[in-house]
Amino acid sequence: MQYRFGAKSISIPALILFILLFQIGVAFAGHGAKPVKKGILLVAFGSSVTSAQVSFKDIDKKVKAEFPGVPVHWAFTSSIIRHKLAKTEGRIIDSPSIALSKMMDEGFTHVAVQSLHTIPGEEYEGLLKTAHSFEGMPKGMSRITVGKPLLYSDSDVKAAVAALISSFPAKRRPQDSIVLMGHGTPSPANIYYPASQYYFNLKGSNIYVGTVEGFPTLKNVMAKLPSPKKGKIYLIPFMSVAGDHAHNDMAGSDPDSWKSILTKAGYTCVPVMKGSAEYPAVVDLWINHLKTAYSALDH
Ligand code: CO
Repeated sequence: MQYRFGAKSISIPALILFILLFQIGVAFAGHGAKPVKKGILLVAFGSSVTSAQVSFKDIDKKVKAEFPGVPVHWAFTSSIIRHKLAKTEGRIIDSPSIALSKMMDEGFTHVAVQSLHTIPGEEYEGLLKTAHSFEGMPKGMSRITVGKPLLYSDSDVKAAVAALISSFPAKRRPQDSIVLMGHGTPSPANIYYPASQYYFNLKGSNIYVGTVEGFPTLKNVMAKLPSPKKGKIYLIPFMSVAGDHAHNDMAGSDPDSWKSILTKAGYTCVPVMKGSAEYPAVVDLWINHLKTAYSALDH
């Protein structure tokens, strides 16, 4: 899938440069080899929630601005979401393997794949395997690199925590708390949630990290929360998009949603329906990872 944002005008010097670079590419490709053609594949878990699509459009725009002239393709790793979108909206979104097959057929030789996941969990592990299986295929791509998810190195966690804090509602008062809803996973990558809690603590903020499917749980978070008399609780997804989990498990009206449980415990909850991919400061971190992956195409 490719997002398009209207016709782009191209200046004459840029056009000449493009033609020159293209010829250099052809000249260096050698006899029988394909000319070098570089591309980007952005890969998200995906979301079937319409309002969440804004995150993907924003990222697409930013990536195209950072990498002018480089074709940008998209894929979703969640087959459930891809099938749901196809069935309900007739929108066909590629899986990573279909997107890479198409790019291979379109003559791409070098592809930087960027994971738009939050942690290097099962989705990222799968993407890594899929991407590398396309590398070195006969008549296929010669080089594929995969950009790290939002949280990978220790400094990533630090940077993400700072970017998130700067993006949270400015109107919150010092006595208010924030409860973040991360996804959580049985994989070892769950460690990023308690790790980010440590960095939030260092910032001295009333921010608590919980997860739907891992550790810490909402129960763990509630044991740390100040009394309901102290202030409000902002409920915010710690996921790239405010999708199904944010709408149902976090802010839904069912008695087992976090909002319902916290409200019942006496708290005033303010859900913020924004995924971290909607915060420019956070998107910049994913783009930094893509820049690393893209420049690694030449090594
Ligand atoms: Co889930």
